[in-house]
Amino acid sequence: MILQHFTSVQLFRSSAVGTLCPAQSRMMPAVVRKSLDVFSGRRDRDALRNPNWASSMQRAPAMSMPAVKIRPAALRDVPTLTRWDGEQHVITATSDDPSVPDKFDWNHELAPRADGTQFFVAEVEERPIGILGVLDPARERTHYWGAVAVNLRAIDIWIGEKDALGKGYGSQMMKWAIDYCFAEPNVVAIVVDPLYSNTRAHRFYEKFGFRRVERRQFDAISDCLVMRLEKGSYDAR
Ligand SMILES: CC(C)(COP(=O)(O)OP(=O)(O)OC[C@H]1O[C@@H](n2cnc3c(N)ncnc32)[C@H](O)[C@@H]1OP(=O)(O)O)[C@@H](O)C(=O)NCCC(=O)NCCS
Repeated sequence: MILQHFTSVQLFRSSAVGTLCPAQSRMMPAVVRKSLDVFSGRRDRDALRNPNWASSMQRAPAMSMPAVKIRPAALRDVPTLTRWDGEQHVITATSDDPSVPDKFDWNHELAPRADGTQFFVAEVEERPIGILGVLDPARERTHYWGAVAVNLRAIDIWIGEKDALGKGYGSQMMKWAIDYCFAEPNVVAIVVDPLYSNTRAHRFYEKFGFRRVERRQFDAISDCLVMRLEKGSYDAR
């Protein structure tokens, strides 16, 4: 929940992950520039470190549900992302004050940027259903996380399409995002900041091994629970 205050009532969320503008897209691994099938497990993490892993990702996940595909977000997604920001379940999960939704200025977010933040859209059967943000909290341009150690990543995740909630898609997205972060050798841990009131999200993150660190008031509408996943503990699972 990273916010930039433009006026007292107009808030634009600026986040952690990436923005895939053409320049950044060129800097990304080829495998990320393509649509990616999500897969899971140690074998998948090993595959991420393998230069030939793109082909190994083509297999379907071992779940009886459609595979989630992850691709970089693009400017053509702005209308969809903006619509999701207005969905009640998204507002409830991202702002402690429903009259002040935590909205992104998506054209700004997805424009070229130098802080390493990236956004990825999750699709099920060609339909966008959710978004992932992956960022370096020490470099993120709004300094939402304040003074923070290097070699961390932060993940933002939300499913925008209400009918896609609770079907396992979020789990597929999160596995992909964790593997993506830890595929970078210097990354030691991942942090997330669900609202303190979002107990469902706490359970969701705990499933992946995230541990509670502290309750933290990031801004007026973000009373959050900071949670952290150490690479060592994730690899040991
Ligand atoms: C949090 C979120 C990403 C989880 O994705 P999802 O696809 O709905 O969740 P999944 O179906 O993969 O379920 C994963 C876990 O979430 C929790 N969960 C899912 N549906 C739930 C429900 N209806 N009630 C309570 N917990 C639930 C459970 O812990 C579940 O574990 P299980 O599979 O062992 O039952 C998604 O619900 C979402 O985007 N919610 C709104 C925004 C948000 O809260 N984002 C995260 C914090 S910023």
